[in-house]
Order: sequence, then C-alpha cells, then structure tokens
Amino acid sequence: MLSFDDNSFLTDTNRGTPMGDLLRRYWIPVLLSEELPEPGCPPVRAQVLGERLVAVRDVSGRLALLQEGCPHRRVSLFFARNEGPDAPDGAPGLRCVYHGWKYDLSGNCIDMPNEPKTSRFKDHIQITAYPAQERGGVIWVYMGPAESQPALPELEWAMVPDAQRFVSKRLQFTNFAQAMEGGIDSSHVSFLHSDAGLWNPDRAQRDTGSLSTGLLQDTAPRFFIEPTDYGFLIGARRQSGPSNYYWRITQWLMPWYTFIPRDADGPIGAHAWVPIDNESCFAFSVSYHPDRPLTSQETNSFRHGGSIHAVVDEETFVPLQRASNNYRIDRVLQSTVSWSGIPGIAMEDVAMQESMGTVVDRTDEHLGSSDAAIVAARRRLIGEARALAGGADSPSGLDPASQRVRSGSAVLPADAESWVDATAEIRAADSRYYANS
Ligand SMILES: [Fe+2]
Repeated sequence: MLSFDDNSFLTDTNRGTPMGDLLRRYWIPVLLSEELPEPGCPPVRAQVLGERLVAVRDVSGRLALLQEGCPHRRVSLFFARNEGPDAPDGAPGLRCVYHGWKYDLSGNCIDMPNEPKTSRFKDHIQITAYPAQERGGVIWVYMGPAESQPALPELEWAMVPDAQRFVSKRLQFTNFAQAMEGGIDSSHVSFLHSDAGLWNPDRAQRDTGSLSTGLLQDTAPRFFIEPTDYGFLIGARRQSGPSNYYWRITQWLMPWYTFIPRDADGPIGAHAWVPIDNESCFAFSVSYHPDRPLTSQETNSFRHGGSIHAVVDEETFVPLQRASNNYRIDRVLQSTVSWSGIPGIAMEDVAMQESMGTVVDRTDEHLGSSDAAIVAARRRLIGEARALAGGADSPSGLDPASQRVRSGSAVLPADAESWVDATAEIRAADSRYYANS
C-alpha cells in the first residue's frame, strides 16, 4: 500500500508536479504515425500529461506538438489550416481559422492579418511548441527543458523494420501508473488470461513438461528483482517438473515501458503506458518479431483485437468493449472455456484495471509477495521524481544503449547458479538493429 500523499505523488503528472517534471524528461509516445499520414495533413488533437496540444506534420515533413488554444481568443488550433507554398505568405505553418493568426512549428506567430500591417504585435506572441520525431511507427514528443533533451529511445520494437512490427493504441480510463502496474504484474497471467480448465488436475497431468503451460503448473511464482540502469529486470520463477524452474523474464524500463515474454517463436509483446491526464492514459501495444516480417495472418489477427490488441473506435481510440457494456463479458463462456468470460486479452486487462476506479486507492490494498515488481516500480518512480525535484542531474533510463533489451522465457535447472547470467543471451536485443549508432 501507499500513503495518501505518496499515491497522489505517484499519479499526479500535471506540469509543475514532481512526477510531471520527471516524465517530461523522457521522449513520450503520443500518436501512431498513421494519424499524421503525410506532410501538410490536417492536425490532430493530442492531450499529454494534462496538456492540451495539437500534433502537426507541416508541408516540409517537420513534426511538432503545439498548444491547442490559439493565444488570441483561445479557440482550438485543431480547426487550423496546415499551410504550405500555396498560402498567401508561402510559408509552412498552422493558421487559425478564426482570425488568421499563423504559427510556425517553433511556436512563433508569423502572420497576424487582422492587425495593421505596421503592427509589431505578432512579434510578442509565442505559443508552446514541443519537438516531435518519428520512430517505430510512433510519433514521440519531448516536453522537458530544451537543454536536457535526450536521444530518441532505442527499444528493440522501435528499431526493427516496419514489416516486423504492429502497433496499436487504445484509450484507458485509468491513471497511467495503474495501467502500467497491470503490465508489470505477471502473476495474473495464470488466472485472468487462462482458460476455464485451470484447476482441472487431469489437464495439469497431461501438460507436464510443456513450456507454455509452465504458467499453469505453478500459479504462485516467486519474483526476483534486479535493479539496472534502465529500471529493473524481473524474473518470475515457477516450478517446472521435479528438477527445473520455468523463468519468465521481463524488464520494466523507466518510466513506463513493459514487455511480455514469448513462449515459442511468435512475436514479442511490449507496451508503453502514457498519461493523457491523471484519470486516463493511452496504452500503446506493440507486437514485433525480431527476426522476420509479421505474417498477414498475425497482422490481421492484431487488427481484429487478437493478442494484446483491442478493437477501438477510430476517432477516439476507446475500445468497443468498455465499462458501459461490461466489456461484453459472456457468462456461458466463463463457465465453459474462458476463465474470465471477457473476449480478448487486452480487454480482460482493461476490465480489471478500470474496475479499480480511475485512480485506485492504494491506501486500501493488500499487496503480497507476487506484487514485488509493482512495489519496486512505484518506489523507483517516486524516488527518481524526488531526486530530480531535489536537484539531481538526470533521471535514469535515458541512455539509449541501456534500452536494447528483450523479454523471454527459459527452463533452467533448479541448481543453476544465476538466472541473470543464464539468461543474458535471450535478454539482449539484436545488435544488427543498432549498426549505425
Ligand atoms: Fe494481462
């Protein structure tokens, strides 16, 4: 549990708060690339860390996020014209449709046609403009101090060729930390995402020795946490037969990245949990294969809500399964084949996390040993935010080289000396994706 004050500290990411200041030191995934499909395309709204912004790709292809409200009379620049060479002044920029004030992507007001030509008023008008870049099918924004801007993240999913990756985005009505804790918690996988045969002893017998059913044979994993530069490594150890352990290894990367290990040769799963405001967040869900393009079967399945993806409303990114329809829980399914009765892994997670309330009351929870990684992530975020507020140089996890990690699973002999050493190879991202850096 957390004290009331620590819970507020962890979950308040608005500008000027210690957690808000910490998160603004990182590049933030904000849009899918396809939301700004080409130079000069219409701007789109994007709220991040409580700040209302519009994302723009100007005619030259440059990206930026600008404050949404035009400083003149505060109307939304979502309605603005994204102008290019055929504009009256021939300059790239965003022109407010209300009175024609125009801004470049550095936030300068470059035209004010409803004031006298001799007026210098426009020279005093500046709007908030954040740099943005594209990598890995995602547009990233940096909202921190200019002098502290780090290099773009080098997570493996962002570095593989586009054909090897599928990214989706969904809106979740919870604080980002709550969503992220769901991504860290690997003990729920044996329950929430399993089938209704979980407790069937015949089935457990039949499956003995199978890797993928390591999750079902031992539902009370022991968690080991190894702090690292980027965050920490989590080893979830389950009994696998008399003399082996089944290890699921995931990383938690500052400040919100989580991963899902793969059992066989399928795609790897990854998430970023990004605050929209204190009561909602975007879940960016990624399936990628480090060695080959995704098959059309895989991509089709992801598009239709397979694996960790969800079917969402195209405008709002709110999943079609939602609280108001009880996530389409099917009680017949629940009593026959599905443990939860809720269709889809992603929506099982969302149902659990949203049911806690938008900001869960962490003063009134009862964490057990299987929640060790959740506790560690809270401590790390709170500790780093305090340190930064106290004058520390720079938070951890900003060095792209430290982000070249991969989740995985392995069966190791029970007497293996170190799970960390024994899994070093399967935890490394493929070096060929970093050849030029
Ligand atoms: Fe889950």
